[in-house]
Amino acid sequence: MKEIIKVRNLTTKFGKKIIHDNIDITIYEGEIYGILGASGSGKSTLLREMILLEDRFKGTIEIMGKNVKKLSLKEEIELKKNWGVLFQFGALFSSLTVLENISVVLEEYTKLPDEFIEKTAFSKIKLVGLNEDVAYQMPKSLSGGMVKRAALARALALDPKLLFLDEPTSGLDPVSARAFDSLIKELHSFFKPTVVMVTHDPQTIVNVLDRFCILIDKKVVFEGTFKEAVNSKNEKVQKFLKPILMEIE
Ligand SMILES: Nc1ncnc2c1ncn2[C@@H]1O[C@H](COP(=O)(O)OP(=O)(O)OP(=O)(O)O)[C@@H](O)[C@H]1O
Ligand SMILES: [Mg+2]
Repeated sequence: MKEIIKVRNLTTKFGKKIIHDNIDITIYEGEIYGILGASGSGKSTLLREMILLEDRFKGTIEIMGKNVKKLSLKEEIELKKNWGVLFQFGALFSSLTVLENISVVLEEYTKLPDEFIEKTAFSKIKLVGLNEDVAYQMPKSLSGGMVKRAALARALALDPKLLFLDEPTSGLDPVSARAFDSLIKELHSFFKPTVVMVTHDPQTIVNVLDRFCILIDKKVVFEGTFKEAVNSKNEKVQKFLKPILMEIE
C-alpha cells in the first residue's frame, strides 16, 4: 500500500494549550480513513493542518510526497488541485447559488471555458443525487441533507484524488445520514479517491471507514481497522468504543 499522507511528530499548540502532542498517522492511497475523538480533541484542527489552513504546528505533514510547510506558491496551487473539502460548518457560500458554488472552484483552479464549467458543475450535481433544478437554488432554501450533497458536489468539482470530509453526517436525520454514507461509499467505489473523514457517527465508523485513528488526551491512542480496535487491549480505546458498540447493536 502506498502512503499518501504522512503525519510525523506533530505537535500543535494554541497559546499555552497543547492540542496534539507528538502524534503520527499514516493514510494509504485509496482508503477511507477516519479521524475520531471526543469533541475538542483536535480532529478538525488536524484536518485543517493537512489542507494548509492551519500552520501553527511542529513536526511534519507530507501529502503525496510533499512537505506541506515547504511548498512554493506554485507547488501549493498544484497540490490543492488534488483535493476537495467538505467543511464541518458553513459548507457553502450563502450568497451564491449551488451552481455558482461549484463553478467558483472550477474557475479558480482550471482554465476551462465557461460553458464547460457549467456542464461540469451540472454533472457533479447529478453525481451526488441532486435534481438539476437545485442548481439555481440558494443554500438557505435547501434541507440539511441537500446542503451536504451540494457541498460534496463542490468538493468533487476537480475530480480529486483526495477528499476531506469534516463530520459529513452531523446534523442530518438518520435516514439522510445513512443515505449520505451510501453515497460516499458508492462514489468511492467508482472513483477510488482517498477519503479522510472526521466523524463521530457510529454507523459511519462501522460501515464506511477502512481504517481510523482515535485522538484522546492529545495523543493518537489507536490507528487501524474497526476489528483491530475491538480487539485492542488499550483501556482508552475500549472506553471510546463502548458507546459506539452499544449504538450499532
Ligand atoms: N484557531 C484556533 N485558535 C485557538 N484555539 C483553537 C483554534 N481552533 C481550534 N482551537 C481549539 O483547539 C481545540 C480543538 O479544536 P477542534 O475544532 O480541532 O476540535 P474537534 O475535535 O474538531 O471538535 P468537534 O468534535 O467539536 O468538532 C479546541 O479546544 C478549540 O477550542
Ligand atoms: Mg471539529
